[in-house]
Order: sequence, then C-alpha cells, then structure tokens
Amino acid sequence: MSDAVQTQSTPNAAFTPRVFSGIQPSGNLHLGNYLGALKRFADAQEQGIESIYCMVDLHAITVWQDPADLARATRELCAGFIAAGVDPEKSILFNQSQVPEHTQMAWIFNCVARMGWMQRMTQFKDKAGKNAQNASLGLFAYPALMAADILVYHATHVPVGEDQKQHLELTRDIATKFNHDYGVDFFPITEPVIEGAATRVMSFRDGTKKMSKSDPSDMSRINLTDDADAIAKKIRKAKTDPDPLPDSLEGLQDRPEAMNLVNIYAALADLTPEQVIAEHAGQQFGTFKPSLADLAVAKLSPISTEMSRLMQDQGEIDRILGRGAERAREIATPILQKTYDIVGMIRS
Ligand code: TRP
Repeated sequence: MSDAVQTQSTPNAAFTPRVFSGIQPSGNLHLGNYLGALKRFADAQEQGIESIYCMVDLHAITVWQDPADLARATRELCAGFIAAGVDPEKSILFNQSQVPEHTQMAWIFNCVARMGWMQRMTQFKDKAGKNAQNASLGLFAYPALMAADILVYHATHVPVGEDQKQHLELTRDIATKFNHDYGVDFFPITEPVIEGAATRVMSFRDGTKKMSKSDPSDMSRINLTDDADAIAKKIRKAKTDPDPLPDSLEGLQDRPEAMNLVNIYAALADLTPEQVIAEHAGQQFGTFKPSLADLAVAKLSPISTEMSRLMQDQGEIDRILGRGAERAREIATPILQKTYDIVGMIRS
C-alpha cells in the first residue's frame, strides 16, 4: 500500500515509529472521512505500529460550536472510528481535551513559532476570510496546537489530507527551531503521510471539489448515517458525463466526476483504479452506478448500523475515550516534563 509507513526513510532513527492523527468532531461524518481517514487507519492497524487517534475538540472550538452538538459530534466520531474497524485496544482513541498536556505543550510552541510563520498559513486565511479581525485568537494559533498534538507524543508519522501539508511543515519548523534554540535533539522531524488521490473523495455535484460536510447540498455527499435507499439514490443521481467508461486510466484524465466514481469503487472494493477500469471498461453509467451503489450499500450499511448501536450506549463511548486518554497521558506526561526541564521550568 502506498500509505505504508516507511520506517527506514525517516530521519528520526532515534525515535520509535509512532503514528498520530487528529480529526475534528464537527458532525456529519461522510464517505470522504471514511475512505480518506477512518478506513485507512483501520487498514494500517495491521502494520502493528503504535497509533494514536485524537478527536480534536479543542481545535473545533476555534470557531463557534454549540456545546450539546460538540459533545454529540465527539461521541459520534468515536463511534465512527470503531465502526470503521479501528480497535480501541490496539490503537489509542481519545478526545483532545481529556489530555491537558496538549494545551500545555501548545503554550511552549506559541513561544517558539514566529508571527510571520503563522501569518503564512493559508487555512487561516481561508477560514477567517475577509473578516480576519473578528476571527478568534485560537483560530490563528490552531497550527501550534496541532504541532503540540503531534510532538507531545514524539509522533514520527502523521497521516493527513493534502490540505494539512502546510501545518505539518510548520510542525517540522517548530521542532527544528526548538531543538536548535535549546541545543537538543529532542523532537522528531515528523513525516507527513499524505493520502493518495484514490482515497480523496470528491463531491457528487462537482468532481473538482472535495466532498464536504459543509456543502449546502446533501446530494453532494454520502453521510455515514445514510440508509441504503439514500446511498443508492445519491449514487444514481451523482453528476457524470455521457460517455462510457474508458479502457484505461488515461481516459479519465479530464473527467473528474467519472474518475471520482471509479476511485470510490476501487477504495471500497480494496482494488486499484486500474483494476476497476479493467473490469468495467466500456460500461455506461447506467450499468456502473448500480454496481457501485450495491457495493457502497454492502460496505457502508454495517458501519452505519454499528454507529447507531454504539451511539445508544453513551456510557460505553465515554469509557473508551477515558481509557484512551489515560493511555495517551502515559506517553505525553514524561515528554511534557522533559520539555519543561529543557525550557527551565521548575518542577518541585
Ligand atoms: N487540522 C486537522 C484537520 O483539520 C486536524 C488535526 C488537529 C490534526 N491536530 C492534528 C491532524 C494532528 C493530524 C495531526 O484536518
């Protein structure tokens, strides 16, 4: 798999390989989150590398969140991880706010990162929009908290989407400057593990835009809570072009909507896009879409059923998050303490 963690290519020979990733609990988990993150994480579990997955509730409140919705979205995200196959015994699953070491480390990094670095962050500019003066200070500082999420575990590999590349470069800059300023070799230089095109799921209305929970059209995405009828209907109505499927991937170059459906088929069936094309070459969408719908229903229905089952037992979800937080703290606490020692903070 292209996602495989290449332990030999890391410049961090002194650090045990460790994976960290975070997802914002902002509601409406969709097919893009499943194929781009949750399923990838579940598949990577078989590599046997210690993996830490965090529901970043502190990142979520950098823009306004209704408290009840935030709590619900956090539990739903946890249910989504488990339903997708991430085992909370093998991996560490928790919500960020239960491990205070993240924010403690973030403060140190606020004092390492430079204003100029932060001002270059394109996600802040996009999210703050024209009214940047009215954005929260947290939204501006967000990438320093993200660096803390990663480095408080000495994580060496971070699987993320393309849009997080710049934040990971900042994480590397922060680690490098800290190590340099304090004359230590303490933080690893984290490797981004960027998702491949085949797991980047695009909107059903516009094949050039990412599938997104904030698209006003519900027809643009498959939600992980959609039932079989909704899934089939959305695939049937997905935008396509009038041509049949080509017999090679090159034939999909300028057909983003067709490419998207082929990629989704491949990711759901654990095939390569080449294999899907080989199997379905020459088919019209009137034939291909029903096959894709059957496949999607077969793969996604058990997940949505399992999510709703888990969501009925809030106590169990909270217990899993609490246990995950405990295990996370066992790793984070000594790293934070060592950081404080390096910086010159007295611990009595
Ligand atoms: N910023 C990430 C996103 O919006 C979420 C995130 C927060 C994250 N902390 C992280 C991802 C640490 C990877 C590692 O997608």
